[in-house]
Amino acid sequence: MTDTLQIDIQPIEKSRIDTVDFNNLVFGRSFSDHMLSVDFASGEWQTPQIIPFGDITFSPAMMSLHYGQAIFEGMKAYKSPEGDILVFRPEENWKRLNKSAVRMCMPEVPEEIFMEGLSELLRIDSEWIPAKEGCSMYIRPFMFSTDEYVGVSPSKTYKFMIFTCPVGAYYTKPIRVRVETKYIRAAHGGVGFSKNAGNYGASLYPTKLASDAGYDQIIWTDASEHRYVEEAGTMNLMFIIDDKLVTAPTGDTILDGVTRKSVIQVARDMGVEVEERPLSIKELTEGIVSGKVQEVFGAGTAAVIAPISTVGYEGVDYELPERPADAFSRKVYTEIDNIKTGKITDTRGWVMKI
Ligand code: COI
Repeated sequence: MTDTLQIDIQPIEKSRIDTVDFNNLVFGRSFSDHMLSVDFASGEWQTPQIIPFGDITFSPAMMSLHYGQAIFEGMKAYKSPEGDILVFRPEENWKRLNKSAVRMCMPEVPEEIFMEGLSELLRIDSEWIPAKEGCSMYIRPFMFSTDEYVGVSPSKTYKFMIFTCPVGAYYTKPIRVRVETKYIRAAHGGVGFSKNAGNYGASLYPTKLASDAGYDQIIWTDASEHRYVEEAGTMNLMFIIDDKLVTAPTGDTILDGVTRKSVIQVARDMGVEVEERPLSIKELTEGIVSGKVQEVFGAGTAAVIAPISTVGYEGVDYELPERPADAFSRKVYTEIDNIKTGKITDTRGWVMKI
């Protein structure tokens, strides 16, 4: 039990931590000892439980498998030089989870359950938080419907869970992206702004086609004309054009990324002009050729700041120049990394210390 919220804790008998090579962490393959699990039933959230990480059983008729009520978040925790556990902007993820929940007709998760459940889980598995440069503890909160029922309607029961994974880099080198001009990710009035599992499922086929053609990721374009940049499959997209930071405005088709908004804030604080505006593929490709487009990079929790080396469009590869030592994407990465890891003072109130 914790001081404020009651959490039932069932600790593991023997830790698996010795089986993990912390010097060679691959993203998303190792899972810490415990997980948080909270059921929603009879119209209310039940007592949260922290239990050993492991398989869960469910009915083949569990509704989320059929009708897609499944949402998730991604966050990261770090160890400060003093050994404190630091989580980067968890409130933003809690708010976004609940926006997704409303759109997908699911119950909202109370702040107390999200924050205290997360804090207790990180405390209990604190040994799993990597201290190595470039590594972190990836946190995956998620919720899915659990009713056993065949019929399209909102479930009456849900499970909210959090598990954590010590991770290295999601992308280990600058990536090649292809502009998608046939398939779409999101249309106005749809669910593009929500972080629901189906958005990612729908991205797999076009991303596989791009991968077969030698690219790592796709750039989604708008659903009506395929003319404007939206986001990539795993992150928001950002551009340095004529020394300004340009990125697509968030709306109902674009995920309101926490790293995206952090980059924008840091850019403004550095005196870099920011333009949140539609960017056409024409402006992008012509700008790469003329040199007006100086940098292209992705921004996301998993991807952090992911430099892009090549933009493929209609069979032509547009190559970005090598990033100079003072590239904006390097400076913003360093600033945000220093805040997250407690190496510099967090003047913006972004870090939650546990
Ligand atoms: C994240 O950045 O946390 C995501 O959820 C994206 C996913 C590709 C790992």
